[in-house]
Amino acid sequence: MSFDHKHLIDIAEYSDTDIMTLLETAKAFSEVNRRAIKKVPTLKGKTVVNMFNEPSTRTRSSFELAEKRLSADSLNCGGSSTSTVKGESLIDTVMTLDAYQIDMIIVRDKHAGAPYIITQHSPASVIDAGDGKHGHPTQALLDLYTIWQHRGRIEGLRVGIVGDIGHSRVCGSLIPALKIMGAEVTVVGPGTLMPACPDVLGVDHVNLNLDDVLPDLDVVYMLRIQKERLEGAPFPSLREYHGLYGLTRARERLMRPDALIAHPGPINRGVEFDSHMADHPVRSVILDQVYAGICVRMAALFLLLGGAENGLDS
Ligand code: CP
Repeated sequence: MSFDHKHLIDIAEYSDTDIMTLLETAKAFSEVNRRAIKKVPTLKGKTVVNMFNEPSTRTRSSFELAEKRLSADSLNCGGSSTSTVKGESLIDTVMTLDAYQIDMIIVRDKHAGAPYIITQHSPASVIDAGDGKHGHPTQALLDLYTIWQHRGRIEGLRVGIVGDIGHSRVCGSLIPALKIMGAEVTVVGPGTLMPACPDVLGVDHVNLNLDDVLPDLDVVYMLRIQKERLEGAPFPSLREYHGLYGLTRARERLMRPDALIAHPGPINRGVEFDSHMADHPVRSVILDQVYAGICVRMAALFLLLGGAENGLDS
């Protein structure tokens, strides 16, 4: 198995072969995660720091669990419990942690570019767990994994990403990842929540009308409105937004019979969805995405930290 990367920050630096290696490895870890005993010794002796300087449920819990299941030593050191509140800089924090001879830093930060800056000051591998509105590469990988598991392929599928495209870190990684894997990508949302020049996203289509595009989509990928990155109240209002862009029971009639519904989470019921669609027993893959999170993050830790030299179970 050839995998020649130290960091996972910019998914555009990964080839289709690299991404497929990650997805195949995640599939192998899915089998480990379904065993009665889920722990393997493959990263014994490696030390991983989880530096979450912004809130997280899914990304943080799945990275922590992935580290435990791979037998790495892990340390949680981020946010308001660190000496950054006393004025210590990100770089000084990283240099302090490096003194412990750590192997990897997983970072979530409100500042776009924080993971890259860490690579300039630390010998450790770095995984971007979400930086500003720049990127969230492991989210993109778990989304690809989920689609691949449900459809058997990614190439040629028509994926619509719906909602607050302009403030989404998920889009920064998911759109290039889908394009690398040969999907056709449409973004849909109100003009007020689109980037100033949506063409720079590299998508195939931009549309402001959800009802126009729904009949063509194989995957409907919903986004929440990223209120933490909005200045002022969203326009349209949340009620208007739900009317125009909410995936509702009424809109389901426009969807292909086999179209999937995905969402990176956290979800806002009554805004981007009604509950019937969020919990749809056939179409919704949201909890499959959560499960894919641990498999993909185990794969990323394993491949970036050289676990492949030892094998999955050794
Ligand atoms: N999708 C995602 O990043 O969720 P969390 O913010 O809960 O980690």
